[in-house]
Amino acid sequence: MIEGWLTDGQAARLAAAAARSRPDGVVVEIGSFRGKSAVVLASTAGSLIAIDPHAGSDRGPQEIEADATRGDADFDAFHANLAAAGVADRVRHVRKFSSDAHQDVSGPLSLLYVDGAHRFGPARADLRDWGRRVAPGGVMLVHDAFSSIGVTLALLVECALSPRWRYVGRTGSLAEYERVESGPRDVGAFARELPWFARNVLIKVLVVAGRRRWAERLGLDPAAPWPY
Ligand SMILES: C[S@@+](CC[C@H](N)C(=O)[O-])C[C@H]1O[C@@H](n2cnc3c(N)ncnc32)[C@H](O)[C@@H]1O
Repeated sequence: MIEGWLTDGQAARLAAAAARSRPDGVVVEIGSFRGKSAVVLASTAGSLIAIDPHAGSDRGPQEIEADATRGDADFDAFHANLAAAGVADRVRHVRKFSSDAHQDVSGPLSLLYVDGAHRFGPARADLRDWGRRVAPGGVMLVHDAFSSIGVTLALLVECALSPRWRYVGRTGSLAEYERVESGPRDVGAFARELPWFARNVLIKVLVVAGRRRWAERLGLDPAAPWPY
């Protein structure tokens, strides 16, 4: 069992998207942590470029500052988990911040999984700069799409208002978008998820305030630290 925040349902959605991914593009993950999603993508798609600096920064809930010790521990666990799952030879790890890794990936993307820094600035840059590399017909999946304020705002700006992304749906807060040549700006699809987003933010506020029981009454899984 690999440590991480991806739920079983979300892993199934990732696997289904990877199984459908077009053979003429690469599959890229931004934010690998200890390999939970990377194993799913590599097993199903056959190959994966995993971008993660493993600097210990923007790592998980309230873990924003860099911390080399925890970053190195994540790096070691990531590679050990890939080996244990038998997919080490299917994954090329780029140990860089996503904004510095563009030259390390050539060609269009058939699938992009975004789960790196969740603050608005870097999340927006990932959706904008990596998203534009997804080929028409390709797919972009975004974790914490409707549970992290930075990611949700970035999605609003870069995807909900864009004619180039069609919202497909979500599993928990894992959102799926299809890259299209041009389509209607479907802000309504985004707006319909706002009650779910508000519920998740409220749950997080209650957890931080030490009111877990109240959060569980709103639907937080007792086994989960956070809503995903
Ligand atoms: C939420 S975790 C990813 C979880 C992972 N997808 C899984 O399934 O377990 C976020 C990861 O993003 C990485 N990260 C933080 N900032 C990043 C950036 N600018 N570019 C790429 N990865 C980043 C962190 O090192 C951390 O491992």
